[in-house]
Amino acid sequence: MDIRAPKGTDDILPPESHLWRHAVTTFDNLAQRYGYGLTLTPLFEQTELFARGVGEDTEVVEKQMYTFADRKGRSLTLRPEATASVVRAYLSGGGDGVFKGSYSGPMFRYERPQKGRRRQFYQVGVEYIGEAGPFADVEVIELGYRYLQEMGVPDVAVQLNSIGDVADRQTFRTVLQEWLRERQELLSPDARRRIEGNPMRVLDSKADTEVTADAPTPAEFLGSDSAAHFAVVRSGLERIGIPYVIEPRLVRGLDYYNRTVFEYVPRQYGAAQSAVGGGGRYDGLAEVLGGRPTPGVGLAMGLDRILLASDGVDLGPLLDAFIVVAEPGNTSDAVGLASRLRLEGWRIDIDPGGRSVKAQFRKADKKDARAAIVVGTEWVDNEVVVRDLARGVQEVIPVEEIGQWLTNR
Ligand code: HAM
Repeated sequence: MDIRAPKGTDDILPPESHLWRHAVTTFDNLAQRYGYGLTLTPLFEQTELFARGVGEDTEVVEKQMYTFADRKGRSLTLRPEATASVVRAYLSGGGDGVFKGSYSGPMFRYERPQKGRRRQFYQVGVEYIGEAGPFADVEVIELGYRYLQEMGVPDVAVQLNSIGDVADRQTFRTVLQEWLRERQELLSPDARRRIEGNPMRVLDSKADTEVTADAPTPAEFLGSDSAAHFAVVRSGLERIGIPYVIEPRLVRGLDYYNRTVFEYVPRQYGAAQSAVGGGGRYDGLAEVLGGRPTPGVGLAMGLDRILLASDGVDLGPLLDAFIVVAEPGNTSDAVGLASRLRLEGWRIDIDPGGRSVKAQFRKADKKDARAAIVVGTEWVDNEVVVRDLARGVQEVIPVEEIGQWLTNR
């Protein structure tokens, strides 16, 4: 067949997909422990949501969006990220009080595909809306850090910065613009183009690090409110033992941020696509979308990259038992047994296709079962052969004791 999955997308199948499911459920459980509720929003939105929310001058909106007209000519876009959607949903629902939502799912960006950089990629994330205080930032940063620990990503640096409020950024922007204009012939064409529209992005342009090494940084222009906020974020993190490093040039690629911004970078990495997650505060976003001013802070973690960076998580066997049918005449009894054990909550698989016993045992191994239950001649006496596949030992037991036997393995 010559129809392939589109460039930059992946088919994620078993057994690999078990790890993905684990990644999502681990985040789900963690988010619940921190008081976030499941939040489902559309995979596509009006294009304007991202143009306004994420920002016209950002790389994401300028170059990476999957935008199309629907049958009535409305411009829609596959979501490149979820924060704008969640804030829109919050505002659509009345936009009142504190809202803590978590999400997981695919995002779409037209990027040059490579390892850990996909056109359809997967994020898990949380948004903490309606809380202006710095302890919300601390909670969100902690949650992301704990997640990486649970996912077995070793030695992660939390890179932290404050880019200040609108007024602070205005001052910084003017100073930075002036500084960049003086050096424009040294900058890459992309950076040069950004000087007028989005000068802060020049700071984290990989192609321009040498030129911008001693450029002014946002931290030097923080007003007293932002500075105080940042100080509490830092001491809050220290108080609960979350290690971080201040990264004065971290500005992030989306326009909605103010004050706290952060990224998680595994130390073994060094490449451009190094961050396995990131986020920050976005106190101006609700207003940009036409709602009343509402503070917010959140993060998103990239599953594609987390699974690449993970040292591995031991999921244990995937099946409690594989039922082996000794003779075709035993099939119906074996299928009945599978049904009963599944109803009791056991993870059971069976091959009712009349294959040889040897082939079925191979399948049991391949499917990562911890036991095999052979339905054969003993069945007339209400017994089965049970085999512990890890230890390679087997015995004959009464059918009604299977549950007990599995529990004791
Ligand atoms: P972001 O930094 O654009 O932030 O994306 C978050 C994470 O998604 C990245 O750190 C990375 O791990 C992953 N990611 C991004 N693009 C790709 C890609 N093309 N392929 C694979 N992984 C990718 C946001 O999306 C914000 N919405 C985060 C946020 C939530 N800020 C506040 N609330």
